Amino acid sequence: MAKPLSILFVASEIYPIAKTGGVADVAYGLPLALRDLEHDVRVMLPKYGAISERKNKIHEINRLKDIPIDIGDVREFATVKSSSIVNTRTKVQAYMTTNKPYFDSKWGLYNDPETGEEYADNDERFIFFARSVIQTCTLLGWIPQVVHVNDWHTALVAAYMRTIYAQQFKNTKIVFTIHNVSNQGVFSLKDTFHKTGLPESALENLKHKNKLNFLKAGIMYADHITTVSKTYGEQLLNDPKLTDGLNAILKARKDVFTPIINGIDTTLWTPEKDKLITKRYTLDTLDKKEDNKEALVKKFDLDYKPETPVIAMISRLVEQKGFGLLKQAADKLFKENIQIVILGEGDKDIEEWLQATAKKYPEKMGVKIGFDENLSHLMEAGSDMYLMPSLFEPCGLNQMYSFAYGSVPIVRATGGLQDTVHEFDMATKKGNGFVFEEYKSADMLDAVERALAVYKDKATWRKLVKNGMGEDHSWNNSSKKYEDVYRKILQTQANGK
Ligand code: ADP
Ligand code: GLC
Repeated sequence: MAKPLSILFVASEIYPIAKTGGVADVAYGLPLALRDLEHDVRVMLPKYGAISERKNKIHEINRLKDIPIDIGDVREFATVKSSSIVNTRTKVQAYMTTNKPYFDSKWGLYNDPETGEEYADNDERFIFFARSVIQTCTLLGWIPQVVHVNDWHTALVAAYMRTIYAQQFKNTKIVFTIHNVSNQGVFSLKDTFHKTGLPESALENLKHKNKLNFLKAGIMYADHITTVSKTYGEQLLNDPKLTDGLNAILKARKDVFTPIINGIDTTLWTPEKDKLITKRYTLDTLDKKEDNKEALVKKFDLDYKPETPVIAMISRLVEQKGFGLLKQAADKLFKENIQIVILGEGDKDIEEWLQATAKKYPEKMGVKIGFDENLSHLMEAGSDMYLMPSLFEPCGLNQMYSFAYGSVPIVRATGGLQDTVHEFDMATKKGNGFVFEEYKSADMLDAVERALAVYKDKATWRKLVKNGMGEDHSWNNSSKKYEDVYRKILQTQANGK
């Protein structure tokens, strides 16, 4: 067997410690899956104010206290603490950067929960975090073979490792995963570059359209770049609008770019063992799913009607997720015999529209504003259908959770949705969901109507549900693909290339 690797996985959010979306789930499931493959994997994230030390069993580490870190002309101090992430099989060490002004005193991850606005010092916060990652490796005397960074928040780790700390990390390979190109970490060129403390020679690698762009640093400095689905990978290479022009820069590095579809953690997301749902069930005991449906609609103050399909959405409330389409389609949609339950938080105007619409259709629509991990599991278990009309979707995890829970996804054909959901064919009985191509409300309505038509035919619906439930979307396959990438790039170094 090949020798296990030492891997540091760095992300701005990791379930269950901190989560706003899918990155947290990936930064949990993938490291644990890599640990299952015997690697020495550790993870690192900032300790935001909302994270409880007691609940997450966070401890101090003697060697990692009061580490001086300069942000421009200001000296701040990081104290790195220890926690862990676990699943039923295994455990992974987690390092967490604490610092009062940047993290402990701020409850939100990226935005102020009071105003919804991004924190004004997000550049400093993630420069500080990146530098704390370097210091942690140095002070622990643990120089991993692979450092895997994710999205713009952690991309600067790559820049530091290939400039100021090049000598120390000369044997370390860097992988950068793009989960979402629509957030690039764009700041004022002069001010923020000064704060990074990077040498002038690095400027070109961080500069994009006369701004400082953290995501570009990841693309330029990583040894290998990945993204989270094949179709999104094509968009990243070819769509200047989606990438704000970074596609050209990525294209130049096409030979070291690999799309790898996300997996889901099947110790957490499986209706057979899920403790967060009302009644557990399997492919063979699907009737028990009905108890979850009843509990779900009641939670949303709707009447339980066994024959009425329940459609769920759990989502960050942002334009990306297709709320524009929902808005256009709402009045026609509610002419159908359906109930819709939506859980989400985000843009205030979307929140308001959802609440107003739920008031307008009190028997058909239930809305909860907020973040509720427990409820999200019941929503997968209790719904018949799951709607993701995304404008774009790098991968998407909920359609895969939906397969596992026998909730049939209705999605727009984009990114990872296109790669995982396939239109059900009445003739062959193949397919696992309903897919529409154009970002048009009429097309979305049409897909919903196709789903409703099949729903009426109980036996066929059951077949469709079973098609999805029978699929394997676990990390088993994709974690091996990441392992292949790690081994390949380490091999390149060994060959002296
Ligand atoms: P994205 O990362 O773009 O938000 P994904 O589909 O990859 O989309 O992942 C979203 C993750 O966040 C899923 O685990 C989903 O259940 C969860 N999620 C999103 N909004 C909420 C919410 N309001 N409450 C609980 N879970 C949520
Ligand atoms: C991003 C994307 C989402 C993806 C997730 C995890 O937040 O929006 O599509 O599933 O990252 O990779």
